[in-house]
Amino acid sequence: VELNWNPEMVEKQGYAHFMLKEIYEQPRAVAAAIEPHVNPETFSVALKNVGFGGQSVQKLEELDAKADWAKTQEVFKSIERVFIIACGTSNYAGNVGKYLIEQLAKVPVECDIASEFRYRNPVIPAKSLVITISQSGETADTLAAIRMAKEMGATTLSICNVKNSTIDREAHGHLYMNSGPEIGVASTKAFTSTMAVLNTLAIAIARTRGVMSEAEEKELVKSLLAVPSQMEGVLSYDKYFEEAASSLKLFRGFLYMGRGTSFPIAMEGALKLKELAYMHAEGYAAGEMKHGPLALIDERMAIVMVAPTDHLYEKTISNLEEARARGGKVISIGTGDNEKLREISEHYLAIPKAHWTVNAILAVIPLQLMSYHLASNLGYDVDQPRNLAKSVTVE
Ligand code: G6P
Repeated sequence: VELNWNPEMVEKQGYAHFMLKEIYEQPRAVAAAIEPHVNPETFSVALKNVGFGGQSVQKLEELDAKADWAKTQEVFKSIERVFIIACGTSNYAGNVGKYLIEQLAKVPVECDIASEFRYRNPVIPAKSLVITISQSGETADTLAAIRMAKEMGATTLSICNVKNSTIDREAHGHLYMNSGPEIGVASTKAFTSTMAVLNTLAIAIARTRGVMSEAEEKELVKSLLAVPSQMEGVLSYDKYFEEAASSLKLFRGFLYMGRGTSFPIAMEGALKLKELAYMHAEGYAAGEMKHGPLALIDERMAIVMVAPTDHLYEKTISNLEEARARGGKVISIGTGDNEKLREISEHYLAIPKAHWTVNAILAVIPLQLMSYHLASNLGYDVDQPRNLAKSVTVE
């Protein structure tokens, strides 16, 4: 027989691009990210083999899980502040983590871009936990930031995808995205996996510090365990995202907005459109719309509103009405069969009903797929967008 496929096609497993394959791998990636840390029978969290005791990354697997967890809990009890430092998409995952850790574990959290953090002479008190997030584990600015934090006496924790990468080796404690190799330059599955890891981390810190009940832990773990199959559900609506994408070509600009954890999701959605489709998009906190962006809105401006049903939903809707009153065309992401959003949007894209802590993981999928379809329909190289690199190892 004549083989008319090449090794790259085999690696893509029938998908047109690595990015599309990686988008579809997300349910599995998220399941793999939480699996080591979550007990599906008791619905409890115990972070596994983080290695705060000073073991090398290669030896983490050999740790006694109980003793290691006790060590991790000591760290969580002692900290007074959390910093989350990262670049690009990893930074947006970090911003979701800020909401999670602050609201669930009641510890003050600051999230910053590594290139800003490292040059602003940050004040890092000794009892700080500095978390760095990096898919590659090689991003120059993030590496410099973790080295600086260590020098200033902070405890560091890395969330990496590539095990034994430079940042991973540099950190005191280690968590992993467990996404498998990510080839597409624009990050997708590493992003959703990271948000899942941050969920387990927030629950772990909260329980350890005694600010979360066992019942709440159970509820949150159950909602987290449900996410992979809910993600499958969202992916099965891809034809609606593709349809929405075909209308995007008509617009002059895009304003992605949300509140709470939907704010970093709006930022990530806008980034995906810039990276892949080379179109101008801005991510904004919906509550800031009155302070400037409202002036931009006319019928050639698309408003992409991330509005899942949560405690901020009503406020988001009133922002959306304001934008619509100025002629902006609306694409909205909401929970379930939302009549209201369906009525006022050109395209309404639904995610399943979920706890606020996991909405971000579900809501980003339609945004990833819209940008993907738009870019690939325009004939752009979605796996390797112009001028961009998968890993930025120089400043
Ligand atoms: C580059 C990639 C992005 C990624 C960012 C941070 O800009 O194109 O997809 O989010 O670097 O990379 P890291 O490996 O540190 O997560």
